[in-house]
Amino acid sequence: MNVLSLFDLSASQIKHVLELAGAIKVHPAGYQSSLKGRSIAMLFEKPSLRTRVSFEVGIHQLGGQAIYLDAQMVEPGQRETEEDIARNLACWTQGIVARVFKHDTLKQLTASKIPVINALCDQHHPCQSLADILTIQERYPVDLRVVDILYLGEGNNVCQSLMVGAAALDLKLTVITPPQFGPNQDFMAQLNAQYPHHKVVVGTDLNAVEHADVVYTDTWLSMGDTRSEQETLAAFSPYQVNQALVERLQATTVLHCLPAHRNHEVTDEVLDGPLSSVLQQAENRLYVQKALLHMIYQELGA
Ligand code: CP
Repeated sequence: MNVLSLFDLSASQIKHVLELAGAIKVHPAGYQSSLKGRSIAMLFEKPSLRTRVSFEVGIHQLGGQAIYLDAQMVEPGQRETEEDIARNLACWTQGIVARVFKHDTLKQLTASKIPVINALCDQHHPCQSLADILTIQERYPVDLRVVDILYLGEGNNVCQSLMVGAAALDLKLTVITPPQFGPNQDFMAQLNAQYPHHKVVVGTDLNAVEHADVVYTDTWLSMGDTRSEQETLAAFSPYQVNQALVERLQATTVLHCLPAHRNHEVTDEVLDGPLSSVLQQAENRLYVQKALLHMIYQELGA
């Protein structure tokens, strides 16, 4: 199976990955052979700290081998096609973890027939949102459907994957973006088609939000964005996560997928303050990715 987005997982598979991630977190020794004898190629077109290290460490802990491929060396689409790269990787490896500029590149990599996992593209960041939801579950060990989650910022890949996860699990998520920076319309159509009864609300008026348990933000300038800093600050500054905002909303958790642009989308005071769970969120990348790999290779027999 491929995980190009969370749309590729059923709601029950998402729940299962989260439960498994929790089990792996407390009992890692039980999963030391999940990838025994398997090698996973990691093709990265863009920079990464958390994703690269957590996948490499996770694959190692599952008994497998990770092979990092810098796209500047492989030159997808230039030295050879993405399809040819994937077909060659399938001669030696059993899966591809890929961080790419365009979602279509992931689709081209599926020519190989070995599993392809999205490690971030322009539309989705599924492993991030699995870690986000696991972190919220740990912070609120109740029925997650009563937790009010607010996402502030651009309707980007991180936001869209969180929206799919929330829709699948019937979570209450409010997404507030500056006008013109909301989620992609094609994405919204897919979300509404796959989860017609979801509880994800999208808007632009932060003043209309009276309360949130969880406040989540991400960088205002994603990798590859070309707009100027002046234009970005003008549009996004009213949506900054700061102490006044978290107090007004009576928030109890602040999340950020990192890297953070301190004192832009989130102030130092909040990012380093008692509500911040950003390092727990980063740590959880390891467990959800191990769980995803275990499910794909051990339970689904890839
Ligand atoms: N959150 C995240 O994906 O971090 P990296 O870009 O460092 O991998």
